[in-house]
Amino acid sequence: MQILRTPKELSQTVDACRINGQSVAMVPTMGALHQGHTSLFDLAHQHADVVVATIFVNPLQFNNSVDFDKYPLQLDHDIQLLEQHAVQFLYAPTVDTMYGANFSTSVHVGGITDVLEGSSRPGHFSGVSTVVAKLFSAGRPDVAIFGQKDFQQIAVIQRMVADLDIPIQIIVAPTIRETDGLAMSSRNIRLSGSARQEAAAISQGLRQAQDQFAAGIRESEHLIKTVKSAIEPTSAVIDYVNVIDSASLRDLSTASQGCVIVLAVLLDGVRLIDNHILV
Ligand code: PAJ
Repeated sequence: MQILRTPKELSQTVDACRINGQSVAMVPTMGALHQGHTSLFDLAHQHADVVVATIFVNPLQFNNSVDFDKYPLQLDHDIQLLEQHAVQFLYAPTVDTMYGANFSTSVHVGGITDVLEGSSRPGHFSGVSTVVAKLFSAGRPDVAIFGQKDFQQIAVIQRMVADLDIPIQIIVAPTIRETDGLAMSSRNIRLSGSARQEAAAISQGLRQAQDQFAAGIRESEHLIKTVKSAIEPTSAVIDYVNVIDSASLRDLSTASQGCVIVLAVLLDGVRLIDNHILV
């Protein structure tokens, strides 16, 4: 695997692939890679000849400096995983390379960023859309892969590429979970032993709500209460549990197939998010 450090190196590498007739998939990450991430690399190989992973812990998207400082860095381990998954290129720029002294541009997607993660983490999605716009602009991949775990993030990126006429196909990958159902996340390693056990209640709540939906229950209030009841006995503090329309992200009072239960909790001081598309 070749490691690229600057936008120019990334750009020239992708150009060379194109001249060879190869299509390119990009998988943006912040590193501390786990099987959720590696599933994206595997999916990327199904959609393009060349896979470019990016690792950049993006300071712009952390509205909490403690969260940024505590974000795990494990580049050697990450490189091993990338090689195991046959990723051909890693783009890993420094903060100074990404955001030079005079950096002053921000990409802000309106509307859908006012709710959920956007209202709890002001500025977060501008940070995400700005960095992803930079990665897309330097890398110009044919496709880019993002995980459903960050449901609102996908909506924001899809809105951005549509609004800015960015000719990149966005592919959504399913959420990979631990055996007890907890969605894999780079933040999970910050949970204490007992909190880690309690965290299983999150996906259990989502599963119970799905069971109720399958049994015919349609009132969002009821489904939300089910999820909350599963989590409330734990030490997790619930930020939100909402039933939303998958496109507008607006709250729905009545659930239907394809709408989404989204949630965020704070457990052991660690923010965990998850979601489930009702089927
Ligand atoms: P990060 O949290 O590292 O996640 C990188 C990608 O992996 C995202 O698309 C995310 O949805 C996906 N992912 C994380 N956990 C997953 C899981 N358990 N199953 C499937 N996919 C999973 O998301 C970001 O980084 C950043 O915001 C980024 C887009 C890189 C911009 O900085």
